[in-house]
Formats: sequence, C-alpha cells, structure tokens
Amino acid sequence: MAEYVCPVWVGHLLASPVRKLFQEPRKILSPYVKPGMTVLDVGCAMGFFSLPLARLVGPDGVAVCVDMQEKMFQRLETRARKAGVIGQIQTRTCSQDTLGLGDLAEAVDFALLFAMVHEVPDAARLFSELHRAMKPAGQVLMAEPKGHVRAKAFDTSLASAEQCGFVAIERPRIRGSHAVVLSKV
Ligand SMILES: C[S@@+](CC[C@H](N)C(=O)[O-])C[C@H]1O[C@@H](n2cnc3c(N)ncnc32)[C@H](O)[C@@H]1O
Repeated sequence: MAEYVCPVWVGHLLASPVRKLFQEPRKILSPYVKPGMTVLDVGCAMGFFSLPLARLVGPDGVAVCVDMQEKMFQRLETRARKAGVIGQIQTRTCSQDTLGLGDLAEAVDFALLFAMVHEVPDAARLFSELHRAMKPAGQVLMAEPKGHVRAKAFDTSLASAEQCGFVAIERPRIRGSHAVVLSKV
C-alpha cells in the first residue's frame, strides 16, 4: 500500500470549480487533446479534468477515466451526466498494482497523470503499462503538486518514465505544479 492515497473527501475539494481560478483545465489540456481522440485520465478522482477531456474529444472520442477508488466515480458520473458528456466517458476501477489497460494496447493518443504519481507505489510499473497503451508518439502530461512533491522526487519520476521508453518534450507552466509532457518513443 502507498503511504498516502487521496481520501474521498479530498476528492470533493479537488473537483471544486474554485480550482479553475488557478488551474484552468481547458487551457492546460487543449494544446494536446483534439476531437476524436482516445484519452486516459489516470487517477481521475471525481473528474476535475475528466469532464473537460470529454468535451475536448467530443462525440467521436472517448475519455477513459481510471481510479483505484470506485467511490470517486459516483460524483464523476453525476457531474458528467449533468454536463451532457456521459457518452464520452468510460470509468474503470483499477487495483493499486495495475491499471488493467491490457485491452488498450497502442490505442491511446493522450494520457493525463495529474497529482497521482506520488501516490503510486511502483512508478516504473505505471509507466511501462502506460507505454504499452500509448500510440506511437502519443503524449502524456504528468503534473505533480509542488506542495507535496519536491523537485528531486519529480525528477526521479521523470527518470523512471524515460527508462520505460518516454522522452520529455515540453515543460509546460502549470500553477503550483511541476509538469512535463512526455512522448512515447
Ligand atoms: C490527489 S488525487 C488527484 C485527482 C485528479 N487527478 C485531480 O487532479 O483532480 C489522486 C487520485 O489518484 C488515485 N490513485 C492513487 N493511486 C492510484 C493507482 N495506483 N492507480 C490508480 N489511481 C490511483 C487516487 O484514488 C486519487 O483519486
């Protein structure tokens, strides 16, 4: 078990619209996500980023939302229904040890890992599963909160991603976060 896993009550806070004042999902995601794409939101919680992802991929795309805590999905699905994007959302409960993406080999255009890698006990395993799921040259945005994750720990996660076959192509500026865009080599 990881030392810390985001509790469900924090999931409610993370989904608050107030967060958009300093982390605007559309602005963060739109450079990478286009209509018709298959995208992954790994560690999606209650879907602060999942709904904007669903809007960006549109009716011909899909946002696959993965979390190990099934309880997070209830609010995510209610919000997605209200927003009219439930048709573009697929939720999947995973275990802490595997994302269970075996059916998505080379199928994913873009993946988001926002504020979740520091909760994963084996980052190398996460990145190698993700590598298998990504299309060639598919992109992954990894962002970690500066409040919880030191620069050195972020660099360790980045090194782990590079060992699994990703290359860093961009360092976007996201408020309060360390961030990098990775591309599958
Ligand atoms: C801090 S929350 C971030 C939620 C969301 N990405 C956001 O930025 O609003 C981290 C989420 O990652 C999930 N998580 C932690 N370890 C995980 C793992 N090994 N596999 C999948 N999800 C995991 C937690 O259940 C939690 O919902």
